[in-house]
Amino acid sequence: MRRLLEPLDALRLLGGGPVVLVTTRWRDQVDVMPAIWVAPVSRLPPLLAVAVHPSRHTHDMIRFAEEFALNIPGRDLLNHVHYFGIVSGRDVNKLELAQLATLKAQKVEAPLIEGCLGYIECGLEDALRLGDHTLFVGRVVAVQAEREAFDETWTLVDPDYKPLHYLGIDRYAILAEPLQAQLRTTEEGAIELGEKEEEKERREEEEARRRQEEARGG
Ligand SMILES: Cc1cc2nc3c(=O)[nH]c(=O)nc-3n(C[C@H](O)[C@H](O)[C@H](O)COP(=O)(O)O)c2cc1C
Repeated sequence: MRRLLEPLDALRLLGGGPVVLVTTRWRDQVDVMPAIWVAPVSRLPPLLAVAVHPSRHTHDMIRFAEEFALNIPGRDLLNHVHYFGIVSGRDVNKLELAQLATLKAQKVEAPLIEGCLGYIECGLEDALRLGDHTLFVGRVVAVQAEREAFDETWTLVDPDYKPLHYLGIDRYAILAEPLQAQLRTTEEGAIELGEKEEEKERREEEEARRRQEEARGG
């Protein structure tokens, strides 16, 4: 049974994307915050956008530094991710308290967090105030990922190498299995939807029955 939800529930229905840890450095200060309101917005040049509320310390850090890095954590960093999301870099140095090792980034000053599955470094291309968040548009300047985790797409083989997704509240997930779409092309070149699982089973049963009959007959 379907039920009507509030407009704000739309945001959580669209949730579940990979969590990123936004790292920033401005002069001698560093900060890190988890974000899920992140989206690719252009292919050429590669641009992505992250929506950050002005109350976040990260908001000022991005404005001043005009660059940032996205670190993509796996399940090992689950508790760190959640902790980074409930305290502010305005009050504590989260990276120092968490005692997580950092790496030097390729192109930006922001630190990269050791043990993440992928890293995207960005220069600030634009900042748009939309509703109650600022959409920071980043121009991608360097990208790296663990081989076991990413090979053209996320591999999703080893659970320790799957990106972490955020469902809301204190709930997170990793994806269970990759599925591959299969479309068929007819002899005329038209694209058709592939068979459903039960259609495939029925066809295979029918083919097996026909082979048995042929074998009996011949
Ligand atoms: C999983 C998760 C995802 C979050 N996503 C966002 C987001 O996309 N944008 C945002 O402004 N805040 C988001 N938050 C909240 C900030 O991470 C949180 O307010 C954080 O403490 C800000 O840290 P800062 O003040 O050091 O920048 C998220 C929190 C969690 C736990």
